[in-house]
Amino acid sequence: MLIIVFLVDLMQLFLDSANIEQVKEANSWGVIDGVTTNPSLIAKEGKDFKETVREICSIVDGAISAEVLCTDDSQKMAAEAEKLVQIHKNVVIKIPLNSEGLKAIKQLSKKGIRTNATLVFSVNQALLAAKAGASFVSPFIGRLDDVGQEGMQLIRDTVQVFRAYNLKCKIIVASIRHPMHVAEAAKLGADIATVPFDVLQKMIKHPLTEKGIQAFLEDAKKTSQKI
Ligand code: E4P
Repeated sequence: MLIIVFLVDLMQLFLDSANIEQVKEANSWGVIDGVTTNPSLIAKEGKDFKETVREICSIVDGAISAEVLCTDDSQKMAAEAEKLVQIHKNVVIKIPLNSEGLKAIKQLSKKGIRTNATLVFSVNQALLAAKAGASFVSPFIGRLDDVGQEGMQLIRDTVQVFRAYNLKCKIIVASIRHPMHVAEAAKLGADIATVPFDVLQKMIKHPLTEKGIQAFLEDAKKTSQKI
């Protein structure tokens, strides 16, 4: 009898942060496969962009997304990308999803430079990014929820389309707001979820775990248990 087993990788977790302390702490938990940054996350930390990316690369051994600052000229976007990839071999270039962005993705993919198409809000945008040669697409679910459109439906649809055509492009569930977003993304079979540090902390916690730890501690103390 021939048994065929398909091995499926567990959903990866990226940290969505440019805060070095958060990157170090999350990385020490052994659960982080990469990091995503964007100009707003970099601005929040008030430090040099390229230095920050360099430091993150020295901490986490995985895909580290750094975003181009030009948004309306594919040649300039590609030139910025060429500078950013000099920082470290793990740098992935985040490119906003517009027509110039698609041209830049195409150009960079021909050179073997990995890209992450960002600010994706529809299946069609995800499809175009994948066709242009993006290594990753980042559908933003929280921002869709914010405007009254179910973000998770976009993940459901994108997973369905990408699997139907066996696309290599990986789906990064982005703009995550709470732990339920992460669990739901995993149930849908997304490749990656990029998670803010506070959400990652919340994923660890459960009141029954805290209560159980306390009770075990007290019982061990009461009976002078030793190791
Ligand atoms: C993803 O790559 C983005 O950096 C991020 O998830 C955006 O999240 P926000 O909508 O909370 O800004």
